[in-house]
Amino acid sequence: MTKPHTLRDEAPIFLLGFMGAGKTTVGRALADELNYQFFDLDELIEARAGKTVQAIFAELGEPEFRRLEAEAIASCSEFKDAIVALGGGANISEANRAKLRLIGKTVWLDCPLEVCLRRLGDDESRPLLGSKHEMIALLEHRRPGYAQADYVVSTGERSPEDIAIEIIRLLGGARQDIE
Ligand code: S3P
Repeated sequence: MTKPHTLRDEAPIFLLGFMGAGKTTVGRALADELNYQFFDLDELIEARAGKTVQAIFAELGEPEFRRLEAEAIASCSEFKDAIVALGGGANISEANRAKLRLIGKTVWLDCPLEVCLRRLGDDESRPLLGSKHEMIALLEHRRPGYAQADYVVSTGERSPEDIAIEIIRLLGGARQDIE
C-alpha cells in the first residue's frame, strides 16, 4: 500500500495544468505558506539549455524542448520540500507521468479556458499559444492526461492564497498549522 502523502513528506509537489492556469503564481503562494522552495520547470529547462523556451522552440524545435523537459523533470528527484510548477505539456506523455509519480505528488489546477485565455492575452513568449479554436482543441486533447493527477483543484478566479490553502488541505495539512 502506498503511504498517504502528508506535509511531513519531503517529496516535491508538482502543479500542472493548461497555460495560464496560474501554476507559477499558485506555486509561489503555496511555497510561501509551507516555507518550501519554489521551482518553475520552464526556468530549469532554460538554465539547462542556456536559452529561453521561445528560443528552444524556434531554434531547436518542440521535440528537443520535450527532451529537455523530460530531463528537467528527472532532475526534480533531488528536490526536498519543494513546489514545482510544470509547463502545460509536461505531464502529457506517459513516460513523464511515470517519472512524476515516482518523484512526488501532482496537483491539477483545473481552470476554465476562458480565464486562461484572458490571462494569456497574446503573450509571445508562449510558442504554443494559438487561436481560441486551437486552444480548445489542445486543452481537450490534454484533459485526460491532466485528469490523472493525484489531486484536482478547481481554480478559476480564486486568489492564489485561497487555492494554496485548499491544496494544503488536500495534501493532509491542518489549516491551523499555517494560520
Ligand atoms: C507549454 C507550456 C509552457 C511551456 C512551453 C510549452 C505547453 O508553460 O512549457 O511553452 O506545452 O503547454 P506554461 O504552461 O507555464 O505556459
